[in-house]
Amino acid sequence: MGCDRNCGLIAGAVIGAVLAVFGGILMPVGDMLIENTIKKQAVLEEGTVAYQNWVKTGSEVYRQFWIFDVQNPEEVVVNSSAIKVKQRGPYTYRVRYLAKENITHDSESHTVSFVQPNGAIFEPSLSVGTENDTLTVLNLAVVAAAHLYPSAFVQVVLNSLIKKSKSSLFQKRTVKEFLWGYKDPFLSLAPYPVSTTVGVFYPYNNTADGVYTVFSGKDNINQVAVIDTYKGKRNLSYWPSYCDMINGTDASSFPPFVEKTRVLRFFSSDICRKTCVHFTSSFSTCKS
Ligand SMILES: *[C@@H]1O[C@H](CO)[C@@H](O)[C@H](O)[C@H]1NC(C)=O
Ligand SMILES: *[C@@H]1O[C@H](CO)[C@@H](O)[C@H](O)[C@H]1NC(C)=O
Ligand SMILES: *[C@@H]1O[C@H](CO)[C@@H](O)[C@H](O)[C@H]1NC(C)=O
Ligand SMILES: *[C@@H]1O[C@H](CO)[C@@H](O)[C@H](O)[C@H]1NC(C)=O
Ligand SMILES: *[C@@H]1O[C@H](CO)[C@@H](O)[C@H](O)[C@H]1NC(C)=O
Ligand SMILES: *[C@@H]1O[C@H](CO)[C@@H](O)[C@H](O)[C@H]1NC(C)=O
Repeated sequence: MGCDRNCGLIAGAVIGAVLAVFGGILMPVGDMLIENTIKKQAVLEEGTVAYQNWVKTGSEVYRQFWIFDVQNPEEVVVNSSAIKVKQRGPYTYRVRYLAKENITHDSESHTVSFVQPNGAIFEPSLSVGTENDTLTVLNLAVVAAAHLYPSAFVQVVLNSLIKKSKSSLFQKRTVKEFLWGYKDPFLSLAPYPVSTTVGVFYPYNNTADGVYTVFSGKDNINQVAVIDTYKGKRNLSYWPSYCDMINGTDASSFPPFVEKTRVLRFFSSDICRKTCVHFTSSFSTCKS
């Protein structure tokens, strides 16, 4: 009847050994199956898991802004004092939530081309302050006009327009106005038709930053979503050095099988350059 203690131990050991052998066999097989599935499903083509998440970015992408609030605008303008600033923010916006458009696949070069429509939604829970916060910032139009028209005569005219519109080197603007656009009183007085709306990222909504061509990963999964060209070019021609290169993805996704030692490279058209991150969780720019 039943089993004594020794018999139980032996049965346990045998079952354990059999399971260990199975485990030993299944672990690499399982890994292989998982790896193969990822290799198939990460490719950017109709029908894969990754494709749906790629067309309309599945993860939430945020962009944060910190803005310097000028504390002594009068002193700077009147007495040429050193500028005193206070950092405000972050003001956080959810971006890249719209689906990519005009997607075309090239099966020969294994690339996909698309445009990414822009949109930004303020995210109060990740921000310090509101979009209505009023800050003292540089007057973009006044500074740009003086820089664009250095001729003495034009500057006299500009000066009178600046005075007439009660503009100055600095202005008070809400975060929303400063980032996304406001009607500028000085430009509104310009004697010839110019765009009178100014903002650091104006226009943003309903625009796209240009055509991207990225690798689909079909022939090499390590290249999936890596940018081949941006606006048809492989470098930006803004910068003299490595900053000019367009390396990596758009940062909303990276190729699979990332090792901790791998440097993740990405390109951001908003700051007109590429940059990268290291695993240490510290953010730094890097060469090559
Ligand atoms: C400019 O400097 C003068 C002399 O130091 C001072 O009296 C005046 O208050 C300053 N003006 C401003 C706007 O800070
Ligand atoms: C998408 O393609 C259509 C037709 O070629 C074009 O009219 C439209 O401007 C393109 N969209 C963007 C955002 O470039
Ligand atoms: C841009 O569009 C988003 C979403 O419709 C909206 O929340 C945001 O206020 C718009 N921004 C501007 C500056 O119009
Ligand atoms: C910001 O200002 C607008 C218009 O004055 C108002 O409708 C909105 O409620 C304000 N938002 C906050 C968070 O105060
Ligand atoms: C940018 O690309 C052009 C054409 O591909 C090339 O002639 C130029 O040398 C590149 N510039 C840099 C800085 O790499
Ligand atoms: C970055 O892009 C440039 C230009 O396309 C290329 O020459 C260079 O090898 C790339 N570097 C890396 C690390 O991918």
